[in-house]
Amino acid sequence: MNKDFLWGSATASYQCEGAWNLDDKVESMWDVYLHENNLENGDNASDFYHHFEEDLLQLKNGGQNAFRMSLAWPRIIKNKEGEVNSKGVDFYRKILQCCLDKDITPFVTIYHWDLPQYWEETGGWLNNEVSYAYQKYAKICFEKFGDLVDLWVTFNEPKWFVSSGYLIGNYPPAHKNPQEMIIAAYHVMLASALGVKIFKEGGYKGQIGIVHSFTPVNGVDDSLETRIAMRYADNYCNNWILDTACQGEFPIDLLSELNKKFDLSFINIKELDVIKENTVDFIGLNYYARALIRPYSNGETVLVANNSGNGGSNKVIIKDWFEQVFDDPDAIYTEWGTEICPLGLEQGLKEVWNKYHLPLYISENGIGVREDVTVDEVQDDYRISYMNDHIAAMMNAMDDGVDMRGYFAWSTFDLYSWKNGCEKRYGLVAIDFDTPNLLRKPKKSYYWYKEIIESKGKKI
Ligand code: BG6
Repeated sequence: MNKDFLWGSATASYQCEGAWNLDDKVESMWDVYLHENNLENGDNASDFYHHFEEDLLQLKNGGQNAFRMSLAWPRIIKNKEGEVNSKGVDFYRKILQCCLDKDITPFVTIYHWDLPQYWEETGGWLNNEVSYAYQKYAKICFEKFGDLVDLWVTFNEPKWFVSSGYLIGNYPPAHKNPQEMIIAAYHVMLASALGVKIFKEGGYKGQIGIVHSFTPVNGVDDSLETRIAMRYADNYCNNWILDTACQGEFPIDLLSELNKKFDLSFINIKELDVIKENTVDFIGLNYYARALIRPYSNGETVLVANNSGNGGSNKVIIKDWFEQVFDDPDAIYTEWGTEICPLGLEQGLKEVWNKYHLPLYISENGIGVREDVTVDEVQDDYRISYMNDHIAAMMNAMDDGVDMRGYFAWSTFDLYSWKNGCEKRYGLVAIDFDTPNLLRKPKKSYYWYKEIIESKGKKI
């Protein structure tokens, strides 16, 4: 294992910071959506806002040399006119400086889903103007933090927030409209390319990539029908993000298919040129599960989403969309219905490397579980086993020549898990959300990870 390999863990602004209305931060679309619907929110979350020094020290003491974090747009830019919030800038500069003082490499995501509400009110990602507003916001980030950051990410998981927000409807703005999903997908990929463009034009140091919610696609058999279904699924699950960000083109067979059913007149050829000319330097892959695909005969797609944590799956039926079902009766699932499949990671890493030949990071990987955190030390052997098997899969891929640059466990400490609230815990460090000062205690997996890092992966 190369000495520069990044061994770290990951967070996201809304999920950990808390301080939702402090120091001139304005509302994000998540603040408004969760408040208005009276849902568990991240108002306080892990209160990283007030605990970041202690948390970064703990990360360092756990042997980690990298920290994945995101910047909250509504903490940095106050309004549509682009007024900068100096208090928000100071907050992130302090975090980044604290990382550097401890020899921790920051891996910084510019957008992890917390769109300012003032932009949501103009139509959010359905509004072309928001892509250009994102570019201005990204430029401010490069200017204010560029001296402290070498690894930038334009977006976290376009697929996940676009499909959840505009197709499935379980994330804000909670629409269920395939046409809107296609428009939002286009604007997000355009914004990502505009971010890359301004980064390259500005001559800032470092590299810029994208983080993708990676779902390698397997078929139930080797028939022609299954292969065709797999291609559709791959287009939906991966290619519209990775082909577009890495090769500068939306998959043409996907556009051709969509053109039969949807209005694509919003696509602007000049903007396609921007996408073509501004591709990323590296890929971050968030890996939780693969998709097993079989052709679906009646023209409906069953997308599986489970926010209940009660086992089984909530099925969302979307008519006339793609022609396959995501399903595997024989697999092992977490209590939230996520398949555990390290082999999918190994195969997927090789596929992505062979296709794009760009440096790769695993930017998230972890298991969400209900845990009793009132004990002295959470004995999370299931997390150790999960991480062990996935790191082993990554190392197998490296042995086969894949250029892996880092691994980030999700998550650094327990945090707010979107629609699952705080009871779905992923952290290496437990947080007791019922204590006044949000008491932190490393779990068994934290110490195990430290040993793995110290052995440079040899103890896997
Ligand atoms: C990734 C996201 O999709 O998965 C994280 O980047 C998220 O923000 C993580 O928390 C786990 O998903 P969930 O819904 O279980 O919190």
